[in-house]
Amino acid sequence: MELPVWSGVDHMMRSLLVLALALAILAALSGCSKGEPQGAATNGEKLFASFKCASCHGDKGQGGSAPALAGSSGPVSSPDAMAAAMWSHATKMWQAVDAAGIERPRITPEQAADLYAYLSGVSGRQNPVGAAARGQQVFEAKLCASCHEQVDTGAPNLAVQAGRFSAFSMVAALWQHGSGMLARMVAQNKEWQVLSAQEMADIIAYLNTKK
Ligand code: HEC
Ligand code: HEC
Repeated sequence: MELPVWSGVDHMMRSLLVLALALAILAALSGCSKGEPQGAATNGEKLFASFKCASCHGDKGQGGSAPALAGSSGPVSSPDAMAAAMWSHATKMWQAVDAAGIERPRITPEQAADLYAYLSGVSGRQNPVGAAARGQQVFEAKLCASCHEQVDTGAPNLAVQAGRFSAFSMVAALWQHGSGMLARMVAQNKEWQVLSAQEMADIIAYLNTKK
């Protein structure tokens, strides 16, 4: 049975309406970020000091011995950009952190969100939208798959966390598991990889659909 109004609409128009509806649903779905925690800038300010980020990046993240981080147009312009910048610069940063005798903090996703809110001055900025198919290619090209999708490499199966990956969980993973990962990479003669914000978004999209 068809609605009278609906059957009055010609075929072409119907297809367009269906398409418009599908696009609207897609837009709504991608708008609600995958459970990313909302950060609080006041917490972020305290963490920036207590984690000693400030001792290198400047009191307010304005830069010091290490690059400036503050502001919405810098390296922390979106959550994905922050995650990508940290992954990309991790090895050099950790050399500096170790040389300064600072203990590497184990940052949680919530704390990453707080740091983001503080440094960017924005909460809820839009990420570049990730594409799972592209993410799979990036995951291979950046060597992630050579450990995480092979048996007996000691790398955890990331599929068990599918649906829970976000830029902030990737920041936390870096600070909590990065040194274990780096040690494996060095042992296997693999080079630490650099990621753009878009590549980070694509990897996150891929990992969230992994089975
Ligand atoms: C001992 C000094 C030191 C400490 C402490 C430190 N960093 Fe860094 N950080 C660096 C250096 C040096 C670099 C640049 C590394 C490079 O050139 O690859 C860097 C790079 C970064 C970048 C990438 C910047 C860019 O331009 O893309 C981010 C983001 C960052 N740090 C955030 C943090 C946060 C958040 C903390 C605290 C949890 C922190 N850092 C603690 C020295 C430090
Ligand atoms: C040389 C092997 C190797 C490579 C390459 C590698 N990883 Fe890992 N990864 C590991 C190991 C081992 C751990 C666990 C480290 C630990 O907990 O000490 C890990 C941990 C992780 C975690 C945290 C998992 C958890 O339990 O919360 C994430 C997320 C992750 N890797 C993502 C990536 C991504 C993304 C890439 C590519 C950019 C990558 N890995 C490349 C070996 C690797």
